[in-house]
Amino acid sequence: MCGIAGYWSFGNEAFPILLKALENLEYRGYDSFGFATISDGKLVIRKAVGRISNSRCDLIEGRMGIAHTRWATHGGVSERNSHPHRDCTNRFAVAHNGIIENYQELRNYLISEGHNFLSETDTEVISHLIEQMVIKDGRNLKKAVMDVSDKIEGRNAFIVLDAFNNEMIASRKGSPLIVGIKGSSDEEKEVFIASDIPAFLEHTNKVMYIDDGEGVIINGSPLFFRLSDGLPVDKRLITIDWSPGQAEKGDYDHYMLKEIMEQKESIRRAANQNPEELMKVAQMINEAKGVFFIGCGTAAKVCQSAEYFFSEIAGRHVNFVPASEFDNYRHFLIPKTLVIAVSQSGETADVLEAISIAREKGSKVISIVNSIGSSMTRVSDYTFMINAGPEKAVASTKATTSQMTVALLLAYACAGKLKEGMRNLVSLAGEVNDMLNPRYIEHIRYVAENISDSRSIFIIGRGVNYPIALESAIKVMEVSYIHAQGFAGGELKHGPIALIEKGTPVIALVADDDVREEILSNAIEVKSRGAFVIGISPENNEVFDLWIRTPPSLGVLSSIINLIPVQLLAYYLGIINNRNVDMPRNLAKAVTVL
Ligand code: M6R
Repeated sequence: MCGIAGYWSFGNEAFPILLKALENLEYRGYDSFGFATISDGKLVIRKAVGRISNSRCDLIEGRMGIAHTRWATHGGVSERNSHPHRDCTNRFAVAHNGIIENYQELRNYLISEGHNFLSETDTEVISHLIEQMVIKDGRNLKKAVMDVSDKIEGRNAFIVLDAFNNEMIASRKGSPLIVGIKGSSDEEKEVFIASDIPAFLEHTNKVMYIDDGEGVIINGSPLFFRLSDGLPVDKRLITIDWSPGQAEKGDYDHYMLKEIMEQKESIRRAANQNPEELMKVAQMINEAKGVFFIGCGTAAKVCQSAEYFFSEIAGRHVNFVPASEFDNYRHFLIPKTLVIAVSQSGETADVLEAISIAREKGSKVISIVNSIGSSMTRVSDYTFMINAGPEKAVASTKATTSQMTVALLLAYACAGKLKEGMRNLVSLAGEVNDMLNPRYIEHIRYVAENISDSRSIFIIGRGVNYPIALESAIKVMEVSYIHAQGFAGGELKHGPIALIEKGTPVIALVADDDVREEILSNAIEVKSRGAFVIGISPENNEVFDLWIRTPPSLGVLSSIINLIPVQLLAYYLGIINNRNVDMPRNLAKAVTVL
């Protein structure tokens, strides 16, 4: 995925505002970046490869402009492939997020029409199509944007800056775009447009959502229209309950650490759901003919945890399916099936695709999402917002435990034990608060120092802690680049134990539950083959070479508690190994491509 931004005002310079917007969107892609403004009626474009900073890109003048931060898909990481992309006449510049599935065919057509391509990207077809339609065919820019949106296939959002008419027009079809407004009088007004709210949160928390299939013209107050027929659309100005500080690092060195530490509050906020809505959805779950939890990556592990939560708490079977594999289940979907989509960003393409399969079959869709106004909130029958606040580190931490909190609440609600569940989760938030103290964190850093030069790390768990072992491995791998793998404790002896050699770190996730003895036996099995065993557990045990203490007697909630020390461990493994923990290589915060 990429981040796009645009800015318009009567009097302010756009560049510093766009630069800050890109810094705030950098979590969406950090291969290269670029800006386009209109200065003296001419397009000015600057691009650079690598991390966003003004020292790498000369200041450009103009009170209106667009900007882009790239996560490369079509075409390598180079200045040439960075956005914005211009047309042959140098009148239009385009910033784009998404993938144009039929770009090859469009590119061939445009080349046959005499257009000269400067990059290998799919995006560049937009600038030349716009040029073709406006300059050669005589359409106005709005109509050209409507026609281009219709022509390009896939999930896309783009902004076109027109140096001749001094305006920009954006289109949303599948990828997110939000408009922010500051000031009321025309002279004071500033208009922002971006892929995500944190891009402009320090200037305004007043937003207007662009829905799928809509466009917006910006050269003054934004004018929204339908891409299908150009008719105007009325929008409400919505105030977002986020403060700029929530999207900043504050005193922390990294977003990841800040977000891990925020879990003391974020779990409490996630638990503060409307009981009536929880009961309503619980009834839908209880009456459904088949319930599928779907998500990708870490969110998929939350879905897998939900299988255990519903079984343990409500004696109810729910299915977990990675969203990217959901197509295989289409034959089992009927209108009485319930699909519960879990996503931090609300924009993951595989999840959106799975939702559209469910919709085709007439199934109901509930989503559990963090990003306000994201696509998933708009295509679901009901959405639980987890209210974790902006999560900017690529590795998901606080959103994960908040998603687990909502899944737990639903399981409690299905069992008719919602009040008990809410109490348990609030007291769990208290335990997290006590746990995350400086001595505890120092101890985890010490544990990380002991295993930071390992080639491989294994994590084992049973019951509710099995999906946590899988999620722990994702965390370790993505921020430290150390190979890590999670296993169900009982599976080790069926193959993976062959990998254990002297000193191989194995993290055992232990809880005060009915699989405690079994997971300790698995720890003994690997220890007797030379493993270096790290126990995450309420009590110490002679099998542990190092011990990370957790609060006792949490039952099913031990899954949330056990994950938090591993998140910290992964963070320190990344720091000790000099990794960019907030922006690990090759990854993007939300994967908006299939
Ligand atoms: O925004 P989503 O929750 O839908 O994202 C799903 C995955 O891409 C995401 O969880 C990914 O695995 C993270 N990097 C995990 O830390």
